[in-house]
Amino acid sequence: MVTAVAYRLAAQHAERRRILDTLSLSREQLLEVKRRMTEEMMRGLSKQTHEQTSVKMLPTFVRSTPDGTEHGDFLALDLGGSSFRVLLVRLRSGKTHKVDIQQKIYSIPQETMQGTGEELFNHIVCCISDFLEYMGMRGASLPLGFTFSFPCHQSKLDEGVLLRWTKGFKASDCVGKNVVTLLKEAVQRKQEFDLNFVAVVNDTVGTMMTCGYEDPKCEVGLIVGTGTNACYMEEMHNIETMEGNEGRMCVNVEWGAFGDNGELDDFCTEFDRSVDECSNNPGKQRYEKMISGMYLGEIVRNVLVDFTTKGLLFRGKMSERLKSRGIFETKFLSQIERDRLAMRQIRSILQHLGLTGSTCDDSVLVKEVCGVVGRRAAQLCGAGLAAVVDKIRQNRNLNQLSVTVGVDGTLYKTHPHFSSIMQETLQDLAPQCHVTFLKSEDGSGKGAALITAVACRVNNEGQL
Ligand code: GLC
Repeated sequence: MVTAVAYRLAAQHAERRRILDTLSLSREQLLEVKRRMTEEMMRGLSKQTHEQTSVKMLPTFVRSTPDGTEHGDFLALDLGGSSFRVLLVRLRSGKTHKVDIQQKIYSIPQETMQGTGEELFNHIVCCISDFLEYMGMRGASLPLGFTFSFPCHQSKLDEGVLLRWTKGFKASDCVGKNVVTLLKEAVQRKQEFDLNFVAVVNDTVGTMMTCGYEDPKCEVGLIVGTGTNACYMEEMHNIETMEGNEGRMCVNVEWGAFGDNGELDDFCTEFDRSVDECSNNPGKQRYEKMISGMYLGEIVRNVLVDFTTKGLLFRGKMSERLKSRGIFETKFLSQIERDRLAMRQIRSILQHLGLTGSTCDDSVLVKEVCGVVGRRAAQLCGAGLAAVVDKIRQNRNLNQLSVTVGVDGTLYKTHPHFSSIMQETLQDLAPQCHVTFLKSEDGSGKGAALITAVACRVNNEGQL
């Protein structure tokens, strides 16, 4: 009898281990991810292969980082996460780089994110109108930077043709259109005020610029939030999709789409496939779905459901809540991962998920699942970043590169281990690069204003 129980426990333990092992990546696998990312980045830059590649390497028309002389009042809009923000940014040049920001945050209901484009842009214009009213600024036509954190094809700074929606957005009739025109049309429909558009900016670029304001060595921008993405300064002569060979331009990598041509199939688990299949955009943004805040909790939930179905967790008792998509938010993952969090607190999170009566062993296992999923995300992100910094190093024919990465995003900022694991991986996979990380304070908003400021300074020739 005792042997039978012991045998069953050992078998259960082995089965849990086997499943968790599918979620961990070896050094060789991570090196392979870096290699494939480098290859896709090259293909994205090349005229011949650009169309077929998953990583789009989009020119941003930002050619230099700020020099501290930027000055003036700017409006900035920030769309791309779970909310929409309107900001008034006051830049004062001089030694202290004084920046004063006033902002209001507006929610975007899910129906609006996924309704018609007209509804979405009408909603945005209503928020802007409210902000101008609130600030007593109706009628002031300040230069405006629009942080629009989705893949856009730009042929100049103040134009962005939406290539596809990512994250939770799905508004109809927007893909293939210039988002500045869509917003201008909505402003005209409202007939209350005018806007003076100067720049469309990806959040990665805004983050790089904001950190570049503090540290001129900042030539990479990284976001690990609802979605994930990076940008960096590339040599113009390598960007075959652009005319001109002189100097550098910031390229929006759009690395979230890495894997969409099968580059990550070897490393995906059944849980990743299920998260992908049940998402808004199956088959798309495969790398992002293994890394970012919108998906990590959902991966954990899928593992927990599998464990429970197999009788390896919660004594095999499934809760209805655990079966619902999105219930395990990534913020729980960050909370559970805190080192000093008592098992009692994990249990109360589980209770919130309708998992009453969980044992201490259950809590330990849930913590382990969160650990494995978070670690893999941070390592994958580190492997991608290794490809980016090594590319910069090779571009410059350097044996050693010293570079700063500006980072933003809730997952990066709130997960207790993400940044350290990512940096460890990066160091291991790109040993010839010395990388410093600078957390950006309000990268998207301030960055849009800075880019707008630089553009105004150089008299907006359509390029910075
Ligand atoms: C998604 C978007 C990308 C953005 C990233 C982070 O991947 O496609 O443009 O930078 O999310 O917000």
